[in-house]
Amino acid sequence: MGKKRIMVIFGTRPEAIKMVPVIKALETARDLEPIVVVTAQHREMLDQVLAAFNVVPAFDLNLMSDQQTLTKITVSVLSQMEQLFQKIKPDAVLVHGDTTTTLAASLAAFYQQIPVGHVEAGLRTWEKYDPFPEEINRQLTDTIAQWYFAPTERSRQNLLKEHHNDQQIYITGNTAIDVLAHTIKDQWQMPILDQIQPDAKLILLTMHRRENQGAPMQEAFGAINDFVLSHPEVEVVFPVHLSPNVQKAAHQAFDDNNRVHLIAPLNVIDFHNLAARSWLIMTDSGGIQEEAPSLGKPVLVLRDTTERPEGVAAGTLKLVGTDAKEISKWLNAFLNDPARYDQMAKAQNPYGDGHAAERIVNVLRQELN
Ligand code: UD1
Ligand code: UDP
Repeated sequence: MGKKRIMVIFGTRPEAIKMVPVIKALETARDLEPIVVVTAQHREMLDQVLAAFNVVPAFDLNLMSDQQTLTKITVSVLSQMEQLFQKIKPDAVLVHGDTTTTLAASLAAFYQQIPVGHVEAGLRTWEKYDPFPEEINRQLTDTIAQWYFAPTERSRQNLLKEHHNDQQIYITGNTAIDVLAHTIKDQWQMPILDQIQPDAKLILLTMHRRENQGAPMQEAFGAINDFVLSHPEVEVVFPVHLSPNVQKAAHQAFDDNNRVHLIAPLNVIDFHNLAARSWLIMTDSGGIQEEAPSLGKPVLVLRDTTERPEGVAAGTLKLVGTDAKEISKWLNAFLNDPARYDQMAKAQNPYGDGHAAERIVNVLRQELN
């Protein structure tokens, strides 16, 4: 019998990073074969990941446009994937997380009655618009999915609350942890480090979520800027997401502050190593909330909700939202109360043992053969 063909579909930076271990594990499986399809909902930020891990997609839908709307991405993925599924007829599809690519590719597979495995299934805030549109993307994807690869027991419980079948849920850990084993280096140099005072307290900042764009982002950036201006020992590195809304807000807020370094998105190896060398992380990113406990870095989460409560329970993440007073309170607390900082930095990684991809591939092997 020939190998079962698993179409692995993704479109953005975080999906790519967390699907790489699954692709690599499929490549080594005797009886399974990956067919990598990128929608390229992101272009440059996706290509950085593909290059870092030498992944060459079999198909590239190349659909990113500057002013892409959620509808436009969805329609393009649906119509292009219909043609591709009819041509290739894979035995199964794997999608990741909660992006527009995730939902639209799952729906397109469902229309062809191809079974879908959802990697990182079961994350929930239960808030329809927070994060927007990701909460509904993942709920709908879980309605379509055949196999749920839940990173934690908590995500399994979320799926059970929605009456998904426990027999189809597999707790695997998060593939984000698998990736860290390949990126973190003892010795690492990168150009931005030369621009930072050697004894600086370095804050690594990222922010991009749609629900934060506009006033919340402006308020958070204002609070961070004020804090840096009044503390000469603090510097910020902010690899700015390529979303035009984020670019504009970041430059407006920080262009006059030479201790806030606005740089292009970093390749994932640089980013992980910079995170490992930082004092503190401030972010609204999902993936970074998963990585930080393993790196032992406290995170101020610039959001009101999180679908990653495991990191809050482990003590690494503090939800501060975008309120200037709250942000300023916590930054000062870290600076003036080293014991509190140390407590948060003593992280217990709740996201698995770095073997999530292996478990996912083993399930597929059992289910398909
Ligand atoms: C998407 C995901 C979000 C994820 C984020 C990761 C959805 C609904 N949202 O949001 O869950 O957290 O990716 O970063 O799928 N751009 C470029 N080059 C790139 C990438 C983006 O120029 O490599 C610009 C384009 O102008 C694009 C815009 O950024 O139109 C926004 O990208 P989009 O994928 O629509 O939304 P994100 O906010 O990135
Ligand atoms: N990341 C990266 N370069 C950067 C910023 C982030 O490689 O300049 C990585 C980060 O380590 C994490 C992922 O990108 O693995 C998170 O992506 P993003 O914040 O864009 O999306 P989210 O996780 O919020 O969906």
